[in-house]
Amino acid sequence: HGYAQVTTTGDDVTNVAHRGASGHAPENTIAAFDKAVEIGADYIEVDVHMSKNNEVVVIHDATVNRTTDGEGRVNDFTLRELHQLDAGSWFSDEYKGEQIPTLGEVLDRYLGEIGILIEVKDPANYNNMERFVAIELIKRQLRKPTDEEVIVQSFDHASMERFHNILPDVPIGVLVSNNPNGISDEQLKAFQTYADYTNPNHLMVDQDLVTRIQDHGMQISTWTVNDPNRMEELVEYGVDGIITDFPDRLQDVLQ
Ligand code: G3P
Ligand code: CA
Repeated sequence: HGYAQVTTTGDDVTNVAHRGASGHAPENTIAAFDKAVEIGADYIEVDVHMSKNNEVVVIHDATVNRTTDGEGRVNDFTLRELHQLDAGSWFSDEYKGEQIPTLGEVLDRYLGEIGILIEVKDPANYNNMERFVAIELIKRQLRKPTDEEVIVQSFDHASMERFHNILPDVPIGVLVSNNPNGISDEQLKAFQTYADYTNPNHLMVDQDLVTRIQDHGMQISTWTVNDPNRMEELVEYGVDGIITDFPDRLQDVLQ
């Protein structure tokens, strides 16, 4: 009695594999997501864009240039054309033939296996992207996900507000880039009307920000943290989740 428990064990910190276990396998491919499952992460983070024929596809950039052997905007390719691209060789020969997955494929393969954090990329550049993402969830009975098996996040906060109006029971995250102004209480008050998470770049995270986000009734998952010392610091601040390319490193820190 009388002693405060000062050590944070980190037992309850969610381990999120950024674009899959992207430190070990090509980002946003089945290989990277399988690796995250194998390591024992809690979630895979999955970036999505729209194909020309309105399929929700899993890729980080608006173009295929960096992560495939093709060239051009994702939105100028049909799904059939996207499937012909090699999304693995750029990372290493071992992954030759990895394809750009669809969001539907990822949901079908991993629901019940690992949590899925969907990042809606550039929704302002596509028509009704929120609806296309929502349809994929509804098709799989995810109108009211249990245990936060899926979460939807974006840097586009207006899009997340729209998504919340379409599917009010799906947990929402707002992403915040590192910026010198930080995040004001006014912003947090606005976020809390539709979001369950405020997810900032870790470079702007300190004890005060963690406390203020949680005091506004939200959780904080921060990104992208690959340095074990920084992971430890963030765990001590009491963050709810850490998004990392190396979920194996985070697992070691949390043990
Ligand atoms: O999960 C947040 C993080 O992924 C945002 O940055 O560029 O890696 O999508 P980015
Ligand atoms: Ca992302």
